[in-house]
Amino acid sequence: MNNKFDLIVIGAGPGGYIAAIRASQLGMSVACIDAWSNINGNPAPGGTCTNVGCIPSKALLQSSEYFDHVNHSFHTHGIEISNAKININNFLKRKDNIVKQNNEGILYLFKKNKVSFFHGKGSFFGKENDQWLIKVKNKEESILSAKNVIIATGSIAREFPNIAFDEQTILSNDGALSINTVPKKLGIIGAGVIGLELGSVWRRLGADVTILESAPNFLAAADSQISKEAFKLFTKQGLKINVGIEVKDISYSKNSVSVKYKDSSSNNHEIIFDKLIVSIGRIPFTKDLNAESVGLTLDSKGFISVDNYCKTNLQNIWAIGDVVRGPMLAHKAEEEGVFVAEMIAGQKGHLNFNNIPWVIYTSPEIAWVGKNEQQLKELKRDYKIGSFPFIANGRARALGDTSGFVKIIADKYTDEVLGVHIIGAMASELISEAVTIMEFKGSSEDIARIWHAHPTLSESLKEAALALDNRSLNY
Ligand code: FAD
Ligand code: NAI
Repeated sequence: MNNKFDLIVIGAGPGGYIAAIRASQLGMSVACIDAWSNINGNPAPGGTCTNVGCIPSKALLQSSEYFDHVNHSFHTHGIEISNAKININNFLKRKDNIVKQNNEGILYLFKKNKVSFFHGKGSFFGKENDQWLIKVKNKEESILSAKNVIIATGSIAREFPNIAFDEQTILSNDGALSINTVPKKLGIIGAGVIGLELGSVWRRLGADVTILESAPNFLAAADSQISKEAFKLFTKQGLKINVGIEVKDISYSKNSVSVKYKDSSSNNHEIIFDKLIVSIGRIPFTKDLNAESVGLTLDSKGFISVDNYCKTNLQNIWAIGDVVRGPMLAHKAEEEGVFVAEMIAGQKGHLNFNNIPWVIYTSPEIAWVGKNEQQLKELKRDYKIGSFPFIANGRARALGDTSGFVKIIADKYTDEVLGVHIIGAMASELISEAVTIMEFKGSSEDIARIWHAHPTLSESLKEAALALDNRSLNY
């Protein structure tokens, strides 16, 4: 086999596999190396996102939401089901099948796009003239070479100090997606995205879920009005969320875990859980790269240092996705992958970090893009706001979920949309319109004037835009 390529991509998560495909479309010969194996030891490309992140979590969120509907809302539609049970094996099997379909889909895409896939660990092995040498290690070793290298090795879960994940009692996202009996008492450290999504999954199946969060404010990254509404709704659903706490001690055995913590009023507590999910953020993963041998620069937190163009300190070596600065999101990794492939091909590329959408797939969902009120106040920017509650939206009523609202923030003078914040059903889908408007530097008046089909949830965006000018029609 020819081992010389125009480009080698290390890592086949959403950053790496998309970069490899785009580069191949642009005429480059491309190798993509990925180490992830499934339980049979076969390649499982797709990275964290496909194997233990976006895809399996959304599969479990969907199944558990249906279960929740059967138990709590179907009767409002006149559908009566008694004694609904969850078959946890099938619940997990469905998720595993979806993951497998995605792994196979990526292998198919590699074939279709003539990307040479190597299963194993990739590491730097030196340089000959303008060619970087990359060792691939699996059962055997081989050396590949290329002028360009993209590092897309992603991230791993951060451990609580001195408490290693055993994935039985102390769970990272990996173990939290595969619990094979519903825990009676589930503890979660960190009320971030993973804590809320996976906490929702296991609560819906019947677990008593307590989330311990060190930050004084709940969901501080979101607009504060959204965070307040989310806290109210999630608490009502049964999630016990404690903010401003300090975890003092964690001790665990095979079947239980004790967490001692101090609450925001300095009172001491101890809770015994069956299992504990630790979701306190993720750290960049560069361990297997042998990066120090070629002098690759990392920053103080272990991220690969890159400039605005994803260029590292080394010639023709680029890095993208979770392993570099910026939000740890699959779509951010993907867009950087496309951007770098196009830059290598001599094109201009397009990246706008200001308009990256965020979504939390709880029920209701939370989504936002652009600036929130707290940030605009800090920037001393004059703005105006328009909001619209889903309770006044016909489609939301038909759907049976009228919780939440849409909030649009626009510049006070030019009316340019500066941020859109949604809490409500299908917020993940609704946010796309806001991203499009903002990418084109559109105004709230643009949203107000665009056709929106009736009856749709998206009419709430139009109504929120109208509300900016005090001319909401349905509220
Ligand atoms: P990764 O997906 O981490 O992929 C890196 C790949 O590189 C892995 O396959 C790894 O095995 C491989 N690798 C590492 N080192 C080497 C080496 N030396 N040689 C060969 N291969 C190597 N984001 C969203 O946008 N939406 C979501 O809904 C969402 N949900 C999530 C849910 C959970 C539970 C978690 C944990 C994350 C979620 N994320 C979500 C974040 C998302 O998964 C990451 O942002 C995304 O996977 C980052 O992509 P990446 O390509 O940079 O890295
Ligand atoms: P996170 O950064 O979203 O949240 C971590 C939380 O833990 C924070 O609120 C933080 O204040 C808290 N925390 C940190 N140390 C603590 C401690 N010692 N005690 C108590 N609380 C502590 O990180 P999370 O949830 O682990 O997710 C990692 C990343 O994965 C996210 O930032 C996101 O980028 C990505 N992700 C994205 C999803 C999506 O897009 N829907 C879903 C899941 C993950």
